[in-house]
Amino acid sequence: MASGSGSNFQAIIDATENGTLQIRIAALIASKTGIGAIERAEKHGISAKVISPKDFESEEAFGRKLLDELHLLQTDLIVLAGYLIKIPPVVIAAFPNRILNIHPSLLPDFGGKGYYGMKVHRAVIEAKKKISGCTVHLVNEEFDKGPILAQSIVSVEESDTPESLAEKVLKQEHLLLPKTIQLFLNDTEL
Ligand code: GRF
Repeated sequence: MASGSGSNFQAIIDATENGTLQIRIAALIASKTGIGAIERAEKHGISAKVISPKDFESEEAFGRKLLDELHLLQTDLIVLAGYLIKIPPVVIAAFPNRILNIHPSLLPDFGGKGYYGMKVHRAVIEAKKKISGCTVHLVNEEFDKGPILAQSIVSVEESDTPESLAEKVLKQEHLLLPKTIQLFLNDTEL
């Protein structure tokens, strides 16, 4: 599932195509139209569905639509690859310990509501942290609070800006996410 440029989604596609990730990508579910992730799906023959929360009068209705789609796709595992909408409880209940998210900080620091994109890296720099990184975790009903599966760290130099830090972290995300998905699947009976 994605809401943006989809470079993490691309990392999953690449790992699947080069055989290091043994999965079948059932589809991309996008939270809005006109995003890079959809173009990437189309370029790789992956079906893309847009399910936008603003088209539904309640979180429950949005959740039910998501759930219908996920069941139609016979989904085993959901991966949030830059997905900015809170996953409705009905979906979390239907996929216990089967939803992974990647976040661009070393959770539990710099996570939770409002911490996404550049805001994360700006906060890390302002806090004068010497390290940062990314986290893959299981999703529960609170933003960025589920059990942590894997982390990767990067150094934060004096000269770093939020943009340069974002670039360093994103490179690690692209390595960590496919690897963690594979290890997670090896460890479960999926
Ligand atoms: C990544 O930094 C990810 O950690 C966060 O949103 C960003 C998505 O980037 N959840 P992309 O759309 O995968 O390029």
